[in-house]
Amino acid sequence: MRTQVGIVGAGPAGLMLSHLLHLSGIESVVIESRTRESIEATIRAGVLEQSTVDLMTETGVGDRLRREGFVHHGIAIRFSGRSHRIDFQALTGGRAITVYAQHEVIKDLIRARLGAGATILFGARATGVDDVQSARPKVHFIRNGRDEDLSCDFVVGADGSYGVCRAGIPESAHQDYARIYPLGWFGILAKAPPSSNELIYNSHERGFVLVSTRSPQVQRMYFQCDPSESVESWSQDRIWAELQTRIAGGGFRLKEGEIFQKDIIPMRSFVCEPMQYGRLFLAGDAAHIVPPTGAKGLNLSIADIHVLARAISAYYASKATDLLDAYSTTALRRVWRAQHFSYWMTSMLHRFPDANAFDRKRQLAELELLISSRSAQTLLAQNYVGLPLG
Ligand code: DHB
Repeated sequence: MRTQVGIVGAGPAGLMLSHLLHLSGIESVVIESRTRESIEATIRAGVLEQSTVDLMTETGVGDRLRREGFVHHGIAIRFSGRSHRIDFQALTGGRAITVYAQHEVIKDLIRARLGAGATILFGARATGVDDVQSARPKVHFIRNGRDEDLSCDFVVGADGSYGVCRAGIPESAHQDYARIYPLGWFGILAKAPPSSNELIYNSHERGFVLVSTRSPQVQRMYFQCDPSESVESWSQDRIWAELQTRIAGGGFRLKEGEIFQKDIIPMRSFVCEPMQYGRLFLAGDAAHIVPPTGAKGLNLSIADIHVLARAISAYYASKATDLLDAYSTTALRRVWRAQHFSYWMTSMLHRFPDANAFDRKRQLAELELLISSRSAQTLLAQNYVGLPLG
């Protein structure tokens, strides 16, 4: 099998790249180990930056997002039992975020790609990449029990943090930077009305809580937990009691309802540098992971793809390689900005297991600074809604 750009992974990065390349008249094949049903049903993040929304809208895959997504013009930072609004509208010149689940983005992109006649090989498990220093790199994969090869001009590894593509860069040609946090997020979906019309990032002595939403009927919430804990040890009653305790203050209570989904998310930061080796390019989680506190993961994947699609298009238009050569450097600037922001939000809002009373007082002082300083709020708001794609 042969194509121009071989893409490993049908997540937001891989699908968006295939979509943008198609709009530039460039052919791609997407290889995905899971089934369409499974990736369309996996619960993940839910916050889209303004520029992610703009890119989807401008490229014709934003109709449902516009109809069904929820535009939020601010968030609440809550601590010591009181909420403080960060007003994105006022602090960023009118930018906003949209709450729209990642698997809905995936559904929209798959529908658009298949509607345009694209080849997405579901149930095809990539096993490795080869010849990436040559002009004919290959992806090896197994489909229906048989070994197959995809020969291409470029390979893009958008196969997530546990994918095979990163191993296509020899040990000696990359450096990894990592931090594992002794924290996890316990995520729930509950059949309940919204408790708040904006997201609440809540810091409490017992640990962090995030109140998010999916629809008027379904709410998404997270609370900080031990990453080694199991979901079974948390009954509905125990979850609601813990959430209510952490969020309490000023008479505020969360609206409770049946919890129908539970998962635990580990928290880590990771960057692989560079994000390129020969004709192999890494994008999204294959190259970097952020802790979820700043809602940056999905948006960073889309930002990588924006840079990469432009570089690949320039190559096919004029054989120019300068944008391809600059891909890693360009993408990593935003990656490290997001790493810092995600680390900042995580450390400001969570209870670390080794923290003492001094650390909590220092954290409260930081939160007080944030809510009393317009420049600190501007910094948070600009990073949260996302910097322009450039
Ligand atoms: C959601 C996830 C995040 O990581 C975040 O920071 C905000 C919202 C969500 O799933 O809704």
